This record gives sequence, C-alpha cells and structure tokens, in this order.
Amino acid sequence: MLCRSADLIAEAHASGSGIAAFNVITLEHVQAVADAARRTGRPAIVQISQNAVRHHSGDVMPLAAATTAAARSRDARLALHLDHIEDIALLHRTAECGASSVMFDASRLPDEENIAATREAARWGHAHGLFVEAELGEIGGKGSAHTPGVRTDPEDAARFVAETGVDALAVAVGSSHAMVTRTAALDLELIARIRREVPVPLVLHGSSGVPHTALRAAVAQGMTKINIGTLLNIAFTRAVRAMLAEGPDLVDPRPYLASARDAMTHAVAECLTALTTPDSP
Ligand code: G3H
Ligand code: ZN
Repeated sequence: MLCRSADLIAEAHASGSGIAAFNVITLEHVQAVADAARRTGRPAIVQISQNAVRHHSGDVMPLAAATTAAARSRDARLALHLDHIEDIALLHRTAECGASSVMFDASRLPDEENIAATREAARWGHAHGLFVEAELGEIGGKGSAHTPGVRTDPEDAARFVAETGVDALAVAVGSSHAMVTRTAALDLELIARIRREVPVPLVLHGSSGVPHTALRAAVAQGMTKINIGTLLNIAFTRAVRAMLAEGPDLVDPRPYLASARDAMTHAVAECLTALTTPDSP
C-alpha cells in the first residue's frame, strides 16, 4: 500500500518510535525494501536521492514508478520520498512522481541563503501537499551538517525550523554519510537537547555507520526518521562480488542480481526489526 510519508512519520513521532527510510538505486533495491517491509510487517520509506536520479540519466520516473508499483502490489506500508534535492526543477517533480515528501538540501549555501531557499521550498511543497525536510549547513563552514565532526546547535535548529516552516529537520549528532563500518558514536545527550528545542520530527542521516543499539538509543532520545543507504550497497556489492568470484564464466545477470536483492532484503529486514525491538536487559 502506498502511504504518505507525513502519516508514517507522524505515527512514529507520536509513539516515540522510529521510521526507517532506505535509499534506492536499482529496481532490486526497491524490491528489497518492499519485500522486507512485507516480511517484517513494518512500514518503511523508500527514498530516491538526486544522485540516484542523476544515475538514471536525470529521470526520476523509473525508480519512482517502480516504488509506487511495488507499494501497490504488496501487503506492505511504503511511502516515497525524494532525498537531498538541490535542483529546483527536480524539487518541482516531487508530487507528480508519486512522492509525498522531499528533503530539500540547501545546506551548502551560507546560512541566510539556506534559510531563504528552504523557506521558499517549504512554501512550494506545502502548496502541493508535500511534507518537507531540510537541514542547516555546517555553521561557519563550507560543508553540509553531515560533514564529520559537525554538530547541530539546538537553538540554531529551533530558529531554522521557525524561520523556514519545514516539517522535519536533519540534525548532525555524530553520524556521517557513506560509512562502511558501524563505528559512529552518536551524541545522545545532544539529541535530547535538540528534541526539547525543536517541535518537528528529527532526522538522522548517515545511519549506515551507526550500530543498531545506538539507533535504538537515538530513537529513545527523540530521533524519528532514520536514513539508511550505504548498508544496502554493502550487501548488494558483497553478494555480487562473491557470486562473480565463484563463477567467472557467469554472464546472465539474474543470478547475481537475485543474490544481491536477497542480501539487501535481509539487511533491510534486520534494520526494520532492530528499530522496534527493545534491547535485552
Ligand atoms: O540521505 C541518506 C542517508 O543519509 C544515507 O546515509 O548511506 O551513510 O546510510 P548512509
Ligand atoms: Zn543523507
């Protein structure tokens, strides 16, 4: 069933639980998330980044259509989100491609320009019935808030949300994008402080580098949307590499793509279960 991101996020926010959002690149990624959501009985957000759209020759529709079709054909609750969108033309395709939410990313701009651009994106998104996520930039620096070492200041975060009108805020609390080891240490106390200051749901990016126990602790402190991408790609590539090493004469892609899909389904199901399973005492 195709759900609205706002509903899945509001449900998680209200109950103090987390909603996982998985970045997809290929059809097999989409199928893996849909199958894992069905198998575990947990909702999930499928997200397509601007970089993934670029990989598909700038066309968002192939992956978006695959996602909405997968959602409609399976007994699973899925929503579609566009992620890290910097290009205004792509932002403006959000509603027509079937997505119900978008992360508008102007975090590379100086703060005041980020605020102005994000306010306009939120205004446009709300006029089109969309849920809009955004993030502050690295204060005083040139990188995004997810540059390693950067931390979100709770008061800056509250001001950013008040001035832009966004529905969710990505915050920098110790994770960074594209980690291939699960060794990131989150600042749980900072999450709790931001939670107290910021009225909208908080989003953790770069969650592939965070151990499951720390993700659960982050949710317990007030994190709501958990973005996971690299973890799927590690599973995909490891499975393909193993199969090609075993069968150097293999030319049909179906066996190794099926193996990659199985590995991603397993990884996604583990995340979905881990986010809602309490730690043993
Ligand atoms: O927006 C996407 C996420 O932040 C994914 O980050 O690939 O490091 O898990 P990750
Ligand atoms: Zn991200």
